Amino acid sequence: MATRQEADSLLAIAREYYVSGFGRGDAFHERPGAIIESADGHYAVDINGTRLFDTETCASACYLGFGRPEVMQALQEEMARIPCTTPLFVPTAPLLKLGEKLASISPGNLKYSVFSANGTDATEGAIKITRQYWKVMGRAGKYKVLHRVPGDYHGMSLSMVSASGHTFRRSPYEPLMAGFIPFHAPNCYRCPFEKSMPDCQLFCARELEKVIQFEDPETIACVITENTNTGLGIVPPPPGYMQLISEICSRYGVLLVADEIITGIAKTGAWFESEKHGFVPDILCIGKAISAGCGALAVTHLSENIGRVLVECSNLHHGFTYGGLGYLAAAGLAGIAYVEEHNLLERARQIEAFMGARLGVLAAQSPVVGDVRMTGAIQGIELVRDKATKSKFDDPWEVASFISQVGREHGVLLSCQFPHYGNIITMYLPLTSTDDELAMVCDSIEDATRRVEQRYR
Ligand SMILES: Cc1ncc(COP(=O)(O)O)c(C=O)c1O
Repeated sequence: MATRQEADSLLAIAREYYVSGFGRGDAFHERPGAIIESADGHYAVDINGTRLFDTETCASACYLGFGRPEVMQALQEEMARIPCTTPLFVPTAPLLKLGEKLASISPGNLKYSVFSANGTDATEGAIKITRQYWKVMGRAGKYKVLHRVPGDYHGMSLSMVSASGHTFRRSPYEPLMAGFIPFHAPNCYRCPFEKSMPDCQLFCARELEKVIQFEDPETIACVITENTNTGLGIVPPPPGYMQLISEICSRYGVLLVADEIITGIAKTGAWFESEKHGFVPDILCIGKAISAGCGALAVTHLSENIGRVLVECSNLHHGFTYGGLGYLAAAGLAGIAYVEEHNLLERARQIEAFMGARLGVLAAQSPVVGDVRMTGAIQGIELVRDKATKSKFDDPWEVASFISQVGREHGVLLSCQFPHYGNIITMYLPLTSTDDELAMVCDSIEDATRRVEQRYR
């Protein structure tokens, strides 16, 4: 553990030299777990020696915890075999095998893989590929990208900021790129159309059809969407919504890109969340857990039809020097094998049931728990000052910080990621979490909500 002096020195360095790329200022350094010294299994230890059950799991990348031995062994063996090669020029065996494996676990006719480094590369690649596909098909006028707001997050490059739905991430970089057209994301707890299920008959999905008609389908390349809107604080789509979106896209000849960078690989209780919602996208973007938390690897996974068109035209230009390192693919394959051997798809569903039962009781009893939402091990708990009006707390940043401090007392990292949208505790629980650990997380949330109620209502 760092001595007090070392910890203070690191904090001073962070304040003097470091700029967070996630919009976090100096105050963030006060949060437990703000600078991590070590991580092992389900726990991270910060420079103050605080050991925390990590509900963030590196934004879900470490879905099997930190340093899973089977994963580390595969990583190290492959790293020793080929320390570095650029997949921009040539692939390695694990990368090819990972592509084959993905084709076997992804839904429908999804088959070909274009590898890259970050999730942003994969989503941006998807947009490039939809445009290129339509050009090759002789329909060059189809270039527009339809995307959901608010929330849906697709990455940090200029085009992916243009396709994403966070005002606070868009406005500093305006003017954004042309041809990106927003439509409303569903949010049954705070419906943008002030309607409610089932009377609304999925008005939000049907709005897409109107946007497509208005923009002219002959100008539209694709719709890009998350399934569960993680960027809005884990908001799953209403039943039937994604199917209807998919149906509308195929009716109008618009490709559908599902961004499963964060939900992909078992976390939702299915290999991919799209399966749960009963549709097959034309392109599926996968990142984070694809390397089992070992480094930057991502995939733009294509339907057989689109992939064949690209292979035949031999002119795809979307690759990166480090975009598809073999040892990361080996680690990802070991992660997938671990999921299969330990039946972790089922475990993700158990985690949802366990947490749903405990937090469902809390939601019924607590005057500040407005909504509990989950898709497998990815979960959000929305706190409000007044349940009747759904009003937010006066200073969501302070409430967020208080919740993290209470979490620390329980040895749990509790995080409200986007206080811009209120106080939503967001969690990406490891699929290997034990019931005792889940109970500990629930205890910490119960205590935090009780104390928020006493202090801020
Ligand atoms: C849904 C989604 N898409 C894209 C990205 C971008 O991925 P990366 O940070 O690896 O570029 C993220 C990252 O959080 C994400 O959650």
